Amino acid sequence: MSSLKNKKILLGITGSIAAYKTAFLTRILIKAGAEVKVIMTEAATHFITPLTLATLSKSDVFEEVSSGSNWNNHVELGLWADAMIIAPLTATSMAKMANAICDNMVVAVYLSARCPVFFAPAMDLDMWAHPANQTNLQKLLSYGNRLIPVGHGELASGLSGAGRMAEPEDIVAQLSQYFERTDVVGESSTFLEGKRVLITAGPTYEAIDPVRFIGNRSSGKMGVALAEAALRHGAEVCLILGPSRLSPKYENLELVRVESAQEMYEAAVQHFHESDIAILAAAVADYRPKDVADEKIKKKSENLILELVKNPDIAAELGRVKRPEQLTIGFALETQNEEANAQAKLAKKNFDLIVLNSLKNEGAGFNHDTNQISIIGKDNKKQDFELKSKKSVAFDIIQAIIELSKKKKVDE
Ligand code: CTP
Repeated sequence: MSSLKNKKILLGITGSIAAYKTAFLTRILIKAGAEVKVIMTEAATHFITPLTLATLSKSDVFEEVSSGSNWNNHVELGLWADAMIIAPLTATSMAKMANAICDNMVVAVYLSARCPVFFAPAMDLDMWAHPANQTNLQKLLSYGNRLIPVGHGELASGLSGAGRMAEPEDIVAQLSQYFERTDVVGESSTFLEGKRVLITAGPTYEAIDPVRFIGNRSSGKMGVALAEAALRHGAEVCLILGPSRLSPKYENLELVRVESAQEMYEAAVQHFHESDIAILAAAVADYRPKDVADEKIKKKSENLILELVKNPDIAAELGRVKRPEQLTIGFALETQNEEANAQAKLAKKNFDLIVLNSLKNEGAGFNHDTNQISIIGKDNKKQDFELKSKKSVAFDIIQAIIELSKKKKVDE
């Protein structure tokens, strides 16, 4: 159950006698450390009171899209959640969800939610078996919603058969299993099927002589996590990796090992023309020694002066040559004026999105397993994320890229 700790759960309740069980459901979720916000249809309030659920969830209960002069923001609620569970789900509400009939707060939030949606139907056996309900069920599943199967047994009507809402413990176990899986490997989908994603990652080493180099502390972890997340969403990935200890091996992953910024530049330019998306996550050295000594430099004088020359800017070059349908995503690691500097980089390098991580945030940046980011778009809109594992951050970044490509498709 620890996978539910700090998870934000929306509980949508519709008007069935099984609604009384949502008091237990809320209690178990809260006990497992989740944050719960409850949304009810008017019909649901006849079976269990909002006061009971507000007390158990320690939060206001939402019933109306607007109440008095307040507008309850269904979009905000939809964006807030890590998962939504609609339990019990009646035949009427299932039909509304299947057909976007948005006449109550539960359906409004459901239609706005970006998170996975689970639903636990509750019906009498003949209602549940009716082809109209089975058709709506198939529709909900085809939209990617997740069914928590109905149970068999005695029903409120006195009849016995399939149609009972799953028990609260079973619903929580399924949610918990879902988070256990996604916390480790992330969400998977086919959104990037047929797309080629190019990723630069890791540090670069700039040779001084045959044994020495100028390098940086990048581990390559963020780039490898991005490659894994893109693969999980069905992409083919070309990972151009500087000298990192990591050596990922996956189906559909082409790993190109490079050492210097110049080598990374050449590999990136070569692979970019066949890529749909490029994510520039490498910590590329801005300068390299002008001359590389053929032999190990001997210790002679008190001071040694190295002349450095500028390396090519990979991101700027890809931004310059990119075709309208290609997307480039950059990173900005800043220590001051973070947002303004990131926005300037986004414009200068012609990125579609820039991921900002501030070294001021504890646990973020090089060599940590965690990272805290904001994602800024061309419209300068900023989305802030919490401190998370790099794996989880990678999924947020890939999700933002998927949203952007969907939007681009609609605009075209
Ligand atoms: N980048 C790149 N090639 C370079 C330098 C940077 O592809 N030669 C990419 C990085 O991978 C990152 C973005 O550009 O996605 C911004 O990198 P950063 O080092 O923050 O920017 P710089 O342009 O080097 O600016 P500065 O060091 O002055 O902050």
